[in-house]
Amino acid sequence: MTYVVNDDCARCKSMDCVEACPVDCFYEGPSMLVIHPDECIDCGKCEPECPVGAIKSAREPSLGKWLAYNAKHAKIWPNIPAKRELPDDILLTLVAGRARSGGRG
Ligand code: SF4
Ligand code: F3S
Repeated sequence: MTYVVNDDCARCKSMDCVEACPVDCFYEGPSMLVIHPDECIDCGKCEPECPVGAIKSAREPSLGKWLAYNAKHAKIWPNIPAKRELPDDILLTLVAGRARSGGRG
């Protein structure tokens, strides 16, 4: 059995799940991640890490649609073995914003 990601991940992509996975079975699309069902060892470590609850066990019968979606896209999208930090330009914008607000932001 496997865990699956549903579309609650879209536009969040915190990637804390990626750090938790011992077998690096997450794959990244434009707006969300998916889990490769043949690589997932069903350990459950990723599930509590997702801040929006987008990861569920495929044992839940209602998740058949998402199991098919994860299986299909894990074969197409690139593997993501480690959480990606924010790009420098976004970090600089955040730092500048905090400086303007007197360090309170
Ligand atoms: Fe990785 Fe375990 Fe989550 Fe499967 S259940 S995706 S092996 S952390
Ligand atoms: Fe998405 Fe949740 Fe992972 S938002 S990137 S499934 S931690």
